[in-house]
Amino acid sequence: MLLDVKAAQRLDSRGNPTVQVEVRTAHGTSLTSINFPKSPIYEPADLTTVPPGTFRALVPSGASTGVHEAVELRDNDQRKYGGKGVLTAVNNVNEIIGPALVKEGYGPRRDLKQIDGFMIELDGTPNKAKLGANAILGVSMACARAGAAAANIPLYEFLRRESGQESPYMMPVPFFNFLNGGKRSGNGMAFQEFMIAPTGAKTIEEGIRMASETYHVLEQIIADRFGAIYTGMGDEGGFAPPITQPEEALDLLTEAVAKAGYTDKIKFGIDPASSEFFNSKYGTYDLGFKRIKEGESHSDDVRTPSEMMDLYNSLIRRYPIPLLEDPFAEDDWESWSKSCKDWYFEELVGDALLVTNVERVRIAESRMACNAMLLKVNQIGTVTEAIAAAKLAKSLDWGVFVSHRSGETTDDFIADLTVGLGTGHIKSGAPCRGERVAKYNRLMDIEAELKESWKPWSYAGEKFRKPEAF
Ligand code: PGA
Ligand code: ZN
Repeated sequence: MLLDVKAAQRLDSRGNPTVQVEVRTAHGTSLTSINFPKSPIYEPADLTTVPPGTFRALVPSGASTGVHEAVELRDNDQRKYGGKGVLTAVNNVNEIIGPALVKEGYGPRRDLKQIDGFMIELDGTPNKAKLGANAILGVSMACARAGAAAANIPLYEFLRRESGQESPYMMPVPFFNFLNGGKRSGNGMAFQEFMIAPTGAKTIEEGIRMASETYHVLEQIIADRFGAIYTGMGDEGGFAPPITQPEEALDLLTEAVAKAGYTDKIKFGIDPASSEFFNSKYGTYDLGFKRIKEGESHSDDVRTPSEMMDLYNSLIRRYPIPLLEDPFAEDDWESWSKSCKDWYFEELVGDALLVTNVERVRIAESRMACNAMLLKVNQIGTVTEAIAAAKLAKSLDWGVFVSHRSGETTDDFIADLTVGLGTGHIKSGAPCRGERVAKYNRLMDIEAELKESWKPWSYAGEKFRKPEAF
């Protein structure tokens, strides 16, 4: 039973306010105090013997947010935190959502779907604009934790049961963001993220070691070539050296991977986040958008969608890039469909295009726009809806790529989510910065636990897109 649901304003990794939710239950136990049994029977016979518990969640926040995302409520009071306070969302938990949930008498062990459904109804808008997706998601995540503890199972197991996932446990391939551009960096690079993926590792522990070693090699290369000042890191822990062309970024990654000794074992992924430089009036992409001076409407490097396609094609011919996210803008459906039809690409991931929303996934399916969905829980606002979107994407034979946000917290929820749903891949930034490594560390803990348990498991490796194919 939920005894109490309360929220507080805390900070995210950018030093901006975010929502923290704390749920108190009658039957539960603190996750950290669970001594997971090594037998297939997790649940104690008598749940009333499980002591009460308190469960927390912290909500992340994006920067390159899709226009179709669920609404993150900000106070817009310029006197505090530059208008970014979240006290309205906090009050919505403390005064509306919490008391209503407690009154309903929900128990988190079996009721996450009902709890999430109840909050959606209580909000009553299609995009959670009334109570705020940041308020609702915090409650949803904390209730999932409480549910896992009340059933005396790890969170990944709880989420696995919620999703009906049955295939063997799959440890995901982490895609590490090593080089940053786009709106998040001061360099002239238009593309937002260049990632490396240790697909040739045998375990996630090995993959994380390979990435960490390569990251430090890259740091040295950047220091030698551009100067130590460029080894400062961006929001997601990646570097932002003074480069402008995607080839320069991919050459740097290729060199670092080779020097680290992992050629052929590490592949690349790119997220241009192209909605950020799309000109909807002309249907063009402005790769020089960061050079546009005041009074100018565009730069000297404007590309048509078919020129963008040529650029991507030349990149995938030259470098091992099995994953491309948001190559086209969130409402440029025509280019997405054309690329999916004309072009064989291993994984075309929709982020701002789909915003983890089943309606958008259905439209994308009917228009044959992409073959994978980025899964960001705060784009949709409840754990249940995120799971539903992942299930729908999987049923369409798409890939599902779990993702952090650029504004993160130390909450490691998405590590359990990617294992629970068996998505085969996750991105959580560089192997650096506390809020990024919190997820990678949790994944290593889960892998260690699976190794010691009776359960069959493997590392997704080359099959990250369709891990069930094992
Ligand atoms: P965001 O970026 O969290 O700032 O939206 C992440 C992404 O585009 O994948
Ligand atoms: Zn993205």
